[in-house]
Amino acid sequence: MRKEPKETTKEVLILPGDGIGPEIITQAENVLLAVRDRYALKLRCKHAIIGGAAIKEAGRPLPEETLTLAKNCAAVLLGAVGGPQWDALSRASRPESGLLALRMELGLFANLRPVRLHRELAAASSLRGRGIKDLDLVIVRELTGGLYFGEPRGIQKLETGERQGINTLVYRESEIRRVARVAFEVARGRSMRVCSVDKANVLECMELWREVVSDTAAEYSEIVLSHMYVDNAAMQLVRLPRQFDVLLTDNMFGDILSDLASMLTGSIGMLPSASLDEHGHGLYEPVHGSAPDIAGRDQANPLAAILSVALLLRHSLGQEEAAATVERAVHEVLKSGLRTPDIHSPRTRKVGTRELGEAVLAQIPTV
Ligand code: IPM
Ligand code: MG
Repeated sequence: MRKEPKETTKEVLILPGDGIGPEIITQAENVLLAVRDRYALKLRCKHAIIGGAAIKEAGRPLPEETLTLAKNCAAVLLGAVGGPQWDALSRASRPESGLLALRMELGLFANLRPVRLHRELAAASSLRGRGIKDLDLVIVRELTGGLYFGEPRGIQKLETGERQGINTLVYRESEIRRVARVAFEVARGRSMRVCSVDKANVLECMELWREVVSDTAAEYSEIVLSHMYVDNAAMQLVRLPRQFDVLLTDNMFGDILSDLASMLTGSIGMLPSASLDEHGHGLYEPVHGSAPDIAGRDQANPLAAILSVALLLRHSLGQEEAAATVERAVHEVLKSGLRTPDIHSPRTRKVGTRELGEAVLAQIPTV
């Protein structure tokens, strides 16, 4: 019997999540479907629950069914998780634990966060155009180790009756080496420069980080590697961000520096991310959170989610042309002057989530 053609159809799992997640993901999914049609891609979307939405329906932030679907699909597109109504739950039952468990279970150790300033948004950037013309850098954040996952952890009662909180910063050499390699590979396609961020002047774990990153760089003779302490890196990012091309960080520092860097681009609503395992299987999500204060109000910026679709097409589906089409469509919309409130400035037109998403959609050529 001949093989069914549907065997080659790839599945993308969509996890809208909480807060503004569903609104922005609707726009992103529409864009994904439009490029699918434009490029005749064989792909199909499936939907599942995660985070607070899953707690409500299934009693757990990462139901077994969601995890199985995520493992079996070509890529996952996620909105955001979390909200104040779940903050009082025990740590393991909270929405964020669902996302962290998903990253861990899928082995997504490398998180790419491209930070690109569209010239049209210079006025919305926190630096208002100072030293940031054409800013374009990538943060490569380690995602399944470090302080986020280290043991021991917890809150314990001491003999004195006082409580003590513990988290552990721990990295094995192999964990450092594999994410360093990703940063070097990313730099190969760019300007060949990697700056590794650490706190080697104070922390032994980071001393090892620096040593292993340096050792690994020896495999990449064309790469120029530098090292910077994290406090200095935060300062340099707002002082002269163009000095950076690829920033390699551990889990915690990458979390902090990527929020900081996002404001250089105008808004955290502009930053997409790709979380990858060693085979390019990935989870794609905007860097921003669930923004419960504006959820359901048609105010959220859908561009980070839409740009995450571009990363999904590029890294998990190998569809560079389709990815570039999505990025071009976003750029065209920014040129046209439409803005959600977070990136609005004088002489631009304020619109809602849906109108901005539909404007991007209109820029995707039809067959
Ligand atoms: C991020 C987020 C997550 C993180 C939260 C939601 C667990 O802040 O992706 O940057 O800390 O990694
Ligand atoms: Mg964060």
